[in-house]
Amino acid sequence: MKMDELKGEWALVTGASAGIGREYALALARAGMNVVLVARRLDRLQALAATISETAGTKTLVIAQDLGVAGAAARVAEQVNAASISIRLLVNNAAFGRWGRFGDSEQAVYAAMLQTNVTSLTELCRAFMPALAKNAPSAVVNVASGAAYQPVPYMAAYAASKAFVLNFSQALHGEWRDQGILVQTLVPGPTDTEFDHHAGAYQSALQTRGPAEKVVADSMAALATGQPVALNARGTLKQRIFAALFPPRFVIEQVGKMFRPPA
Ligand SMILES: NC(=O)c1ccc[n+]([C@@H]2O[C@H](COP(=O)([O-])OP(=O)(O)OC[C@H]3O[C@@H](n4cnc5c(N)ncnc54)[C@H](OP(=O)(O)O)[C@@H]3O)[C@@H](O)[C@H]2O)c1
Repeated sequence: MKMDELKGEWALVTGASAGIGREYALALARAGMNVVLVARRLDRLQALAATISETAGTKTLVIAQDLGVAGAAARVAEQVNAASISIRLLVNNAAFGRWGRFGDSEQAVYAAMLQTNVTSLTELCRAFMPALAKNAPSAVVNVASGAAYQPVPYMAAYAASKAFVLNFSQALHGEWRDQGILVQTLVPGPTDTEFDHHAGAYQSALQTRGPAEKVVADSMAALATGQPVALNARGTLKQRIFAALFPPRFVIEQVGKMFRPPA
């Protein structure tokens, strides 16, 4: 995909109010794209829309929508269609996690997590991919995580939701590339965002955290060269080898030690 060809076209970024999504929206606007901004915090989205208008001069559509509720993706698609917007790049970035033993949070938290991280992402792909095929060449970026490569005790549901994103997105690439859609699986490394704060992280700096701008730059570079997987973390290959070659009992124990709550 050549970013030059996307100038004046529309992208949709979920989770645009903070972190990687906000940086992605800004980078796409700087590259000349108009951007549909989706998240719950309307004030943040409106402020971002104003920044984009002032600094990049491209158009935005703000959609304040909780993706953690049933029917959210359909409501987003309705608003995009009502504005007669045709999407060329869909960035499914919104997600959240929760540290702690499974069951320590209310069931409503897990339901919203799976709805946001898995179901709404899937439904947004379903809603927009037929139009993306008509507008080809086009792309979908689904944001996974290094957590997807192995079970993560004390972040069990989040890691499993990202394993879904990883496998689902790569399979979609296999199905849709001949329709002109590049489906990229973006695997950020530990990144300095609001994620840990919202996840209730009880340890800081498991590893050093990189900037969200770098994650976005790596993703856009991979889009430009047609890569279906964009790895941002340096240690991802080592991590995959560890998870694939060592006995599951050992992997579970080692990863569990990293995420176990303090006594
Ligand atoms: N940070 C890391 O170290 C890291 C590492 C690997 C992967 N990732 C992935 O990167 C992506 C972005 O995370 P981040 O680090 O940028 O986190 P972040 O700073 O917490 O941003 C998360 C974004 O998702 C939105 N969001 C969360 N729940 C939502 C919901 N129910 N409905 C709509 N929007 C929702 C938030 O907006 P509102 O709160 O305004 O709704 C926010 O804009 C996620 O997919 C995450 O899993 C992050």
